[in-house]
Amino acid sequence: MANFLKILPFLFLCSHLGNAVLVPMAARTPVPGKPSPPGSPWPLPKQWSQSLTLATLGTPEEFSYSSNVPNCTVLNTAFERYNYALLTRGTIAQPAPDVPVLSYVYVQISPFPQENQCGEFPKLSKDPNYESYDLLVTEGAPDNTATAIITAQTVWGALRGLETFSQLIWRDKDWGVNRYYINYTDITDAPRYPHRGLMVDTARHYLPPKALEEILDAMSYNKFNVFHWHIVDDQSFPYVSQKFPELSAKGAFIPGHLEYTPKIVQDIIEKARVRGIRVIFEVDTPGHTYAIGKSHQG
Ligand SMILES: *[C@@H]1O[C@H](CO)[C@@H](O)[C@H](O)[C@H]1NC(C)=O
Ligand SMILES: *[C@@H]1O[C@H](CO)[C@@H](O)[C@H](O)[C@H]1NC(C)=O
Repeated sequence: MANFLKILPFLFLCSHLGNAVLVPMAARTPVPGKPSPPGSPWPLPKQWSQSLTLATLGTPEEFSYSSNVPNCTVLNTAFERYNYALLTRGTIAQPAPDVPVLSYVYVQISPFPQENQCGEFPKLSKDPNYESYDLLVTEGAPDNTATAIITAQTVWGALRGLETFSQLIWRDKDWGVNRYYINYTDITDAPRYPHRGLMVDTARHYLPPKALEEILDAMSYNKFNVFHWHIVDDQSFPYVSQKFPELSAKGAFIPGHLEYTPKIVQDIIEKARVRGIRVIFEVDTPGHTYAIGKSHQG
């Protein structure tokens, strides 16, 4: 980091001279410091205590999610994303003998979700409880099973808890067996910053909707919550406006093809919503909009 800061001014200088120069940074491996034990969550929760007692993953039939909120799209689609195959990289785990089997993950929204959040959009909130959650991995019932319980005040907090849960699962060091563990754990977590954004520029470089969805996935794995969509600029105008369709007709790299139609935009907003991510659109105007000059000449 210190070295990176040293070269930062140099990078700025280069870009202001108008000639972008790539400055290679030295890669030092192994990375200094002590590696975290397997099953360590990222980013580091506010409070995290992990015991040496383990549970193991059973077969897909032995594992399920449930919640106290029926018919909640945000939770139900999250259960689909964090499915058994994601935890085991698409394989069937061999349970460790004589170790409790992790039989279910229970999500409790408490008190019951306010403002019908199952159908709502996430918003910017400085309330520390807006995205907080508790996660407890402990012994369950019936005997010789374990369970994970996520408690949150909002579905958005529950999403962060599900992400942490998925990170707690780790694979046996002996790769000859396909065995997965989770340590008995007690986590109390809340984000340090209410706005955790990533800016993506689709004007200088068109990204297909599938790539945007992968970015949203990567953001949710890192608990980001704002997708800042720099959708248009001088270089291209891929956003298809219903009111001013001539802008993308003249401004898209390939009009009718490399574009974001209203349906695509709506789809991305929904994919972001169910991941607890707000979409902030950036439409520059009148500057940085060369397409206006092309579509409205004279
Ligand atoms: C989980 O438990 C195992 C042993 O049971 C231990 O080696 C490991 O360090 C623990 N993981 C964490 C993250 O504490
Ligand atoms: C859940 O949705 C189903 C089908 O739409 C409906 O029949 C049922 O009443 C809903 N349950 C609750 C508790 O809202």
